[in-house]
Amino acid sequence: MQEHTGRPTAYSRVTLSRIMTAVDVNLYGTVHGGVIMKFIDDVAGAAAARHTGGTAVTAAIDEILFLEPLRVGDLVHAYAQVNWTGSTSMEVGVRLVAQRWDEVADPVVVATAYLVFVAVDADGKPRRVPPVVPDSPENEGRWREAEIRREHRLSRRDAIQRHRQR
Ligand SMILES: CC(C)(COP(=O)(O)OP(=O)(O)OC[C@H]1O[C@@H](n2cnc3c(N)ncnc32)[C@H](O)[C@@H]1OP(=O)(O)O)[C@@H](O)C(=O)NCCC(=O)NCCS
Repeated sequence: MQEHTGRPTAYSRVTLSRIMTAVDVNLYGTVHGGVIMKFIDDVAGAAAARHTGGTAVTAAIDEILFLEPLRVGDLVHAYAQVNWTGSTSMEVGVRLVAQRWDEVADPVVVATAYLVFVAVDADGKPRRVPPVVPDSPENEGRWREAEIRREHRLSRRDAIQRHRQR
């Protein structure tokens, strides 16, 4: 099997930016949650693909927090990076920051999320990923927290499967 050398966290880092438009809003006039979720998935997918150097698919999304509403005209920056890697899966952390078009104020964190991606080969089968090497104390902390989330995800999935097999 091919051995991979590690890649620093910064290698995977991706930023996408876009301005929210009238087609993005819900009945209340703020940006629809589904629009924000797609934006999160897009930027996370780009970070996962950059880290693995190939195709990676979304396996799970959890802990999407919608912290502040977005409005038409807001300039939103989505930041993503690979926080943790396993054998074929990785966790990507995403942070969305908005600059209000009508306010002179500091950018606001409007959403955060954690997503699990799995690198796949041409047949859609999981393939090994290069290990991510945390490159700062902050990223070392993110790696450890991602490991805790992974344990919770898998134990929850296993517990539900056991419950269904009763
Ligand atoms: C994601 C997918 C490739 C996993 O295939 P699989 O045969 O179940 O793979 P495995 O059971 O071998 O698991 C592969 C890895 O994913 C992890 N994984 C799978 N499901 C997971 C979940 N719900 N939560 C966390 N990790 C998960 C496993 O722990 C394993 O990680 P590791 O290799 O780092 O230890 C497959 O389920 C799939 O193709 N899903 C559809 C993806 C898709 O269409 N996404 C939307 C469009 S991109």
